Order: sequence, then C-alpha cells, then structure tokens
Amino acid sequence: MNIIGTGLSGLVGSRVVELLSKHHSFEDLSLETGVDITDFKSITSRISASKAIWIFHFAAYTNVQEAEKEKDIAWKINVGATENIVSIAKETGKKLVYIDTDYAFDGKKQFYTEQDSPNPLGWYAKTKYEGAKRVLSLGANSLVIRISNPYRANPVGKKDFVHKMIDRLRQKQTILAPTDQIFVPTFIDDIATALETLLARIGSGLFHVVGSTALSPYDAAIEIAKIWRLSNTLVQKTTFAQFFKDRAPIPQLAALKNDKIRALGVTLRTFEEGLQEVKRLEYNSV
Ligand SMILES: NC(=O)c1ccc[n+]([C@@H]2O[C@H](COP(=O)([O-])OP(=O)(O)OC[C@H]3O[C@@H](n4cnc5c(N)ncnc54)[C@H](OP(=O)(O)O)[C@@H]3O)[C@@H](O)[C@H]2O)c1
Repeated sequence: MNIIGTGLSGLVGSRVVELLSKHHSFEDLSLETGVDITDFKSITSRISASKAIWIFHFAAYTNVQEAEKEKDIAWKINVGATENIVSIAKETGKKLVYIDTDYAFDGKKQFYTEQDSPNPLGWYAKTKYEGAKRVLSLGANSLVIRISNPYRANPVGKKDFVHKMIDRLRQKQTILAPTDQIFVPTFIDDIATALETLLARIGSGLFHVVGSTALSPYDAAIEIAKIWRLSNTLVQKTTFAQFFKDRAPIPQLAALKNDKIRALGVTLRTFEEGLQEVKRLEYNSV
C-alpha cells in the first residue's frame, strides 16, 4: 500500500484510483470503511498505522449551494478535518496531496496563474482555500492541485456537469447557460495523469491541473450537444448575473492557466478532445 486516501469513492477519486492502480495501491478511508474524517482519533490511528508514503486528501463537503446554509458542517469537514490530516502528516512525515478549486479566485481577472492571489467568494470556496493554506504549510511535503468542473466517462456517485447537460437534452429539458462566464472544464483522466507525473517527478507545490479550453457554459452546452448529436435548440442564452442571482457566488471569469503542469509534459485535453474520449470510453463500455 503506498497511498492512503480520503474521498477515493468520489467523482474524481474513484477514477484516479482506477487509473493509477496499475502502479500504486490504495487504502481508502471513507464512511464506508468506517472512517469519518472529522473524527480525529479514528483518522489518526488509521493513517499512523499505514505504511503509505502518500496521503491523498480528496474528501470534502462539496455541495456549493448547501455550504452557504451549513457553514459549520462545511468548515468542520473542509478545514477542521484537513487541519487534522495536516498534523498527522507532519507527525508521520507522509506527503499530502490536496485538491483545491478554481473557485479560489474572485473571477475579476480573465486569466489566473499559480502566482495569483486567491480571493474566494462563496463559503465552500473559502473553506477549500483555508484547507489548501493549511496543506501548503507542510512545505516540501505538500502538493496542491487546482481543478475546475471535472468530468469523466461513467461518473459514479454524482453526475458531472457534462452528464447533467446530456440528461437534460435527452429529456428535452431546457438548458439555461451564461454566455458571459468563462471556465476551464477538466477531464478527470488528465488529472490522474498529472498526479502520476507529479508524484514521480516533483512531489510538491501548487499546480493548476485544468483543461486547455476556456469557454462559456453556453458554448460548452453547444459543444456537448454537437458531440452527442443532440438538438441544441433547447440550449438558451442567459447572463452570469441572471443565472447566479439567487445562488452561491462563484467567479465569473475563471480561465486558469495550465502552463506550469504542461511544462512537465502532461497533456491536458481541450474540451472537445475530452468529450470525444468520454464518448469513446462510454461506447466501449456498453
Ligand atoms: N467536483 C467538482 O466540481 C470539483 C471542482 C473543484 C475541486 N473539487 C475538489 O475535488 C475533490 C473531489 O471532489 P469530488 O467532486 O470527487 O467529490 P464528491 O464526489 O462530492 O465526493 C466527496 C467525497 O468525500 C467523502 N467525504 C465527505 N465527507 C466525509 C467524511 N466526513 N468522512 C469521510 N469521507 C467523507 C465522500 O465519501 P462518501 O461517498 O462515503 O460520503 C466522497 O468520497 C474535493 O476536494 C473537491 O473539493 C471538486
């Protein structure tokens, strides 16, 4: 066992485990395997007893809307539990990997690099940023990747935004999508490749591991309809202000740059390439 992790059953974690299992073995700390990450005692004993060199801390309170109402719970999971894991990592000398979000930024600037200062807007984003700061305090033993709108073939647990859009189009439901918002959807298989490279070659630092296309949700929906050969007449334009009027605040312009990770030779697919691969994988799995 060389990786012990939290959140390995989630949307991102489960695919990372699937793809990295060729070269790594995993021990999953989850509610299902009897570990609540907010329970300091149980997480300490499991991590301390493990021979793993790496801790993948992927578990989080991830419901962006609910986090605005359940502030204490979101803080306890995203900051409190992370603080616990950081202290165990310090004590055991293990290396810690954490996933942060593009919501770390306020979206006032068009492009963001790893050098830019975060200014999270919503409660989920604030708690994730506080978690990231604590992880980075480990210095050379910490690796933080920032991802954005991850998607994959055959999502488990919850659906990614791509499959939510496909479902709506198949069910002939309208998709309201802002034209004046920018994001960088990320193919989860590329996140796995990036992690493999980072573990083998670098092992620490902060990296934007995001897709290579910055586009609006409206353009993303049109692209999805095109690739799955669904009618796009139900994709309707809206504005960012209108769409997020009663929702948790998120960055409007979140085109994170991925030059730093690409310089290591890691390919981060364009949105079109990622979608084509999702379609191919799903076609081959039926
Ligand atoms: N999805 C996104 O859009 C996105 C974007 C940027 C960053 N991220 C970050 O990427 C990471 C993975 O996200 P995801 O979307 O894959 O997550 P997800 O599918 O929502 O899964 C969350 C994971 O956390 C675990 N978890 C939550 N509370 C726990 C607790 N108290 N004790 C033990 N385990 C607990 C869940 O376990 P159970 O299944 O057992 O409940 C599950 O495995 C998170 O850190 C998230 O903040 C996600």
